[in-house]
Amino acid sequence: MARTTTIGIAGATGYAGQELIRLGARHPEIRIGAAMASGASSSPRSLPALSHLWDGNIEPLSIDQLAAECDTVFLTLPDPVAAQIGPKLVAQGVRVLDLSGTFRLRDPTQRRHWYPATPELDTPAVYGLTEYARAALPEARLVACPGCYPTAALLALRPLHDAGLVHGDVIIDAKSGISGAGKTPSERTHFSECHGSVTAYSVLGHRHGAEIEQELGREATFTPHLVPIDRGILETIYVRTSADVTENQIASIFNHAYEHAPFVRVFGDALPEIKHVVHTNFCDIGWKFDPGTSRLVIVACLDNLVKGAAGQAMQNLNVALGLDETTGLT
Ligand SMILES: NC(=O)c1ccc[n+]([C@@H]2O[C@H](COP(=O)([O-])OP(=O)(O)OC[C@H]3O[C@@H](n4cnc5c(N)ncnc54)[C@H](OP(=O)(O)O)[C@@H]3O)[C@@H](O)[C@H]2O)c1
Repeated sequence: MARTTTIGIAGATGYAGQELIRLGARHPEIRIGAAMASGASSSPRSLPALSHLWDGNIEPLSIDQLAAECDTVFLTLPDPVAAQIGPKLVAQGVRVLDLSGTFRLRDPTQRRHWYPATPELDTPAVYGLTEYARAALPEARLVACPGCYPTAALLALRPLHDAGLVHGDVIIDAKSGISGAGKTPSERTHFSECHGSVTAYSVLGHRHGAEIEQELGREATFTPHLVPIDRGILETIYVRTSADVTENQIASIFNHAYEHAPFVRVFGDALPEIKHVVHTNFCDIGWKFDPGTSRLVIVACLDNLVKGAAGQAMQNLNVALGLDETTGLT
């Protein structure tokens, strides 16, 4: 059977781009039409780790070629590069799923601060947290796929927030594996710097904090940490509920919110762990609640490169194409 959609991946040699090739090569309804990177001399021309799945070549980035050969393009590029090429591809009739942060923030002041290269758009991007964006995805020409940290935080917080049960400050203590920073090492992510250590970074100043607050519509204290594992995010989220909330109410709100969400697993008081979600598109959520003090601690985890990046982007495409959301992802 002919595969229905031809995709391009711009940024295919990066961590998220390679995950997209892995997913796209196995997807029954998708053909990979183009895989591109910077074309710099250090760019690989093939991907040996994926040679059992995909035998294509990596080509230098070409907007015209992507537009001519692909129905849909995934951008797994640095923010300023995605900012420049996303609107050009949309103008040429291509559906764009952008994994960078560049189109996520709607407030112009926040956007200028965190993503100064982002141009003004006639039509804002659809924020692609799949579980809350299903209705908008089929018509969307530009989808801003959420960040890895915001995906876990929002899936954990939205059900209670939407039910009006969150009171007071929300604290998100987040830990991420090193692949969250991409393939190019820096002093912070160099093996000898991060091995055997845990560090907090960008405290009270991480752009994902602005994204979480935008989508939640309330303030949240977000503190990311780097932990010496290659992939995975775990967030411990501290919330005060209103006084009359019961344990059963919390369970029922989470269960109801994700009843029809195949990639959100709700575990109640069995707290999730990173090792159960790596290399999957699942976001696992558990919690402990003390009704006496109305203190709720939620734990959410996911794989930053799958549900936090390539997997969620592919899930969004499945929804946009009217396919079963899990196609090619299980
Ligand atoms: N890592 C994560 O967990 C994660 C999660 C969610 C979202 N994201 C976002 O997704 C995007 C990609 O992240 P990543 O971690 O996969 O990054 P990465 O590993 O650093 O890969 C970046 C990719 O972009 C290409 N590239 C860089 N500059 C380019 C240019 N001027 N023209 C064309 N291609 C260029 C690189 O190609 P070369 O090989 O030629 O350099 C590489 O393929 C980023 O915006 C990131 O914020 C990442």
